[in-house]
Amino acid sequence: MNFRRIFLVKCLLLLFPSVKWSNANGIYRAVNESALLDITAAGSLYDVRWLRDSKKLLQIKDKKVKYYVNKDQCRCKIFLNGTLQIEQVMKEDSGNYTVTVYQQDGKLKAEEVMKLVVQEPVPQPILSAECMNKTISVKCEAKQKTKDETFIIELTQDKSKKIQKNATKLELHTRYSGTFRCVVQNQVSKKMAEKVITCSGHLDVYLILSIAGGAIFFVIFVILLIYCIRKKKAGRLEDDDEERMMQARQVDSEMVVRELPQPPCNPTPKQLRVQQRPLPQPQVPQQALPPRPRPRTQQRTPNHPRERP
Ligand SMILES: *[C@@H]1O[C@H](CO)[C@@H](O)[C@H](O)[C@H]1NC(C)=O
Ligand SMILES: *[C@@H]1O[C@H](CO)[C@@H](O)[C@H](O)[C@H]1NC(C)=O
Ligand SMILES: *[C@@H]1O[C@H](CO)[C@@H](O)[C@H](O)[C@H]1NC(C)=O
Ligand SMILES: *[C@@H]1O[C@H](CO)[C@@H](O)[C@H](O)[C@H]1NC(C)=O
Ligand SMILES: *[C@@H]1O[C@H](CO)[C@@H](O)[C@H](O)[C@H]1NC(C)=O
Repeated sequence: MNFRRIFLVKCLLLLFPSVKWSNANGIYRAVNESALLDITAAGSLYDVRWLRDSKKLLQIKDKKVKYYVNKDQCRCKIFLNGTLQIEQVMKEDSGNYTVTVYQQDGKLKAEEVMKLVVQEPVPQPILSAECMNKTISVKCEAKQKTKDETFIIELTQDKSKKIQKNATKLELHTRYSGTFRCVVQNQVSKKMAEKVITCSGHLDVYLILSIAGGAIFFVIFVILLIYCIRKKKAGRLEDDDEERMMQARQVDSEMVVRELPQPPCNPTPKQLRVQQRPLPQPQVPQQALPPRPRPRTQQRTPNHPRERP
């Protein structure tokens, strides 16, 4: 009986060239979405019948709809153009849908088959890593809700190393730290997880070391620079002071009186300071205010290299 039926169907398939699989790759819908299954055959649609896996669903004949299943259970309806709509699809709605179109005279006009696949949205992938000796073991996992659920997992490292598989778990072993990305997808959804994975005591030690080395070098450089600048300044000050001291002493010993009008010609405070000591004479009028010069000399002491130990 069964064999004969198959033979008959095959004969029909041969006899009627309009019989075909539409949506060859299948129609994919996520749970709760709605699906529209269209008839591609053109022309009048007097009598349209929809079956799922050889089970009669409904029929529209002369614009009158007849259900062979519970309307609420199948969540389905048919439009005048023959399109079958299934609302809030469930995984159980997956299957091969066959539509047959008959002319008013009862002749089969067209037969089309299409595969509907209802999938759950993919789970969020879990990306984890383990450092073992000198390698990193990166694992990406997508937990199945049901055993028949399949996804495509893709694990990439810094857009270079890449593995892809039809599975629920993927592992990648590498010697290099980096950014790892795991993408889990099926026909209806796609989810991603990304992580920067670095193993301590790993290759990036070199990076850390070089950064630390650079920092230390920089600090030393800065210290040396400061030291050199200060020393140079100090040296210059000392030289200047000594020169002026010498000048002052010479002047002191030779002709103090002639030196007296000089301060206005050399108005820089340094010179004044230096000259104040060997030449106590101009200070004479200031002796009426003894506390004033003292704080001044105290303030200047840090700038005065001669007074450093
Ligand atoms: C589908 O919709 C129902 C109610 O509208 C909701 O409870 C359920 O979580 C939804 N399922 C998915 C996978 O979105
Ligand atoms: C049939 O009609 C429905 C509702 O008007 C529409 O959504 C669908 O696209 C139509 N299909 C075709 C093949 O025209
Ligand atoms: C749908 O048709 C395909 C191709 O003929 C077949 O492999 C598959 O088993 C069918 N599915 C169901 C649920 O009958
Ligand atoms: C790490 O390497 C040591 C020797 O180098 C070996 O004995 C040990 O089993 C390795 N551990 C792992 C987790 O591979
Ligand atoms: C993945 O493998 C399963 C069976 O293990 C198969 O049914 C499914 O079609 C495969 N998916 C892809 C995209 O290759």
